[in-house]
Amino acid sequence: MPKILVTGGCGYIGSHTIVDLINHDFSVVSLDNLLNSNESSLEGVALITGKKVQNYRTDLCDLEGVRQVFLDHPDIQGVIHFAALKLVGESVEKPLLYYRNNVVGLLNLLDCMQEAGVPHLIFSSSCSVYGNANELPVTESTPRKEAESPYARTKQIGEDILQDLTNVDPRINAILLRYFNPAGAHESARIGEDPSNPPTNLVPVITETAAGKRQELVVFGNDYPTRDGSNVRDYIHVMDLANAHTKALQYLLEKRNTARCEIFNLGIGEGVTVLEAIQAFERVTGKKLNYRIGPRRPGDVVAIYANLDKATRLLGWTPQRNIDDIMRTAWAWEQVRSAR
Ligand code: NAD
Ligand code: WQD
Repeated sequence: MPKILVTGGCGYIGSHTIVDLINHDFSVVSLDNLLNSNESSLEGVALITGKKVQNYRTDLCDLEGVRQVFLDHPDIQGVIHFAALKLVGESVEKPLLYYRNNVVGLLNLLDCMQEAGVPHLIFSSSCSVYGNANELPVTESTPRKEAESPYARTKQIGEDILQDLTNVDPRINAILLRYFNPAGAHESARIGEDPSNPPTNLVPVITETAAGKRQELVVFGNDYPTRDGSNVRDYIHVMDLANAHTKALQYLLEKRNTARCEIFNLGIGEGVTVLEAIQAFERVTGKKLNYRIGPRRPGDVVAIYANLDKATRLLGWTPQRNIDDIMRTAWAWEQVRSAR
């Protein structure tokens, strides 16, 4: 049972990935300072898997604290690094908070991995590193554009740090996973997206509106050059995304990587408009959503979706779920959450 350290293990994608890791016979330790989560997600993981996962309530910016986790677990074989702040708008308001948390956190983690001799790292990157891409669908070699926010820049910097480090340190292998738009929840509705901050992403805003927590959903613009005028995105179910992490880890552990730093896009390879996402929600839940068309949101790209051939070819990963599955599971989770 290879032991894996998951940073940000109590968060949204981290907790779902832990379920998939346990289902594939990995043993897991989590490090999460609970800045945007709480440990009830690990209780959900325990209900699903029957396994209790230990969480260190440690801040990645606390170098000594991170070092202690590696000292306590000298058998860690790889790290999946989710822990980061992720609100695009907040990052514009508080750039230093984002640079410190996301960049210093990564540097501390890498220092400790080097000291402990842990060779494998999976890094959560984002389609936001592409900015306003010139070509669609985007492949891993589509040039990165100027970042649209400090948040996106922290992901570009993280990628650059890992490219530079793996160029000179043969002991470290890294995989950069560029997620498109993660959404949905585990089928059991025992875990899901449960942020401490009010969500701003489309799918939780849809489910919160349907649950009556918000009065209405505002569609940010219907005058874009797309098939119905609203933005196009590539929504990927969180359990498919979770499984890609397991496959990426197996790829490194089995030494199938051809370079010491490799990049993979993770989406479903299809664009869905905002209005189509709303229709999908209404279709699968039978609920009418209260929405109106509003102005464009500054910084939104018109359309982006992934070419995922590389992940399919090299990792053997193919997403199994679609926008309907995303809406069905997100709604089931919202109902559990609202009843708490
Ligand atoms: P999340 O906020 O649910 O999870 C991140 C977790 O990291 C939280 O539990 C938080 O408490 C923890 N954390 C943050 N800073 C920390 C620190 N300094 N020390 C220790 N723990 C810390 O977010 P998520 O949606 O699960 O995202 C996971 C990763 O994926 C992030 O790196 C994010 O930038 C990236 N990502 C997310 C999306 C998305 O839409 N959710 C898209 C692309 C990339
Ligand atoms: C999706 C679409 C909105 C809310 C963000 C980050 C990106 C990545 C994923 C981390 C857009 C529209 C939304 C609403 C709306 N995260 N929308 N009304 O902006 O594609 O990507 O999350 O790495 O970096 O930027 O995701 O869910 O916010 O928006 O009309 O109330 O839904 O305009 O077209 P986005 P999103």
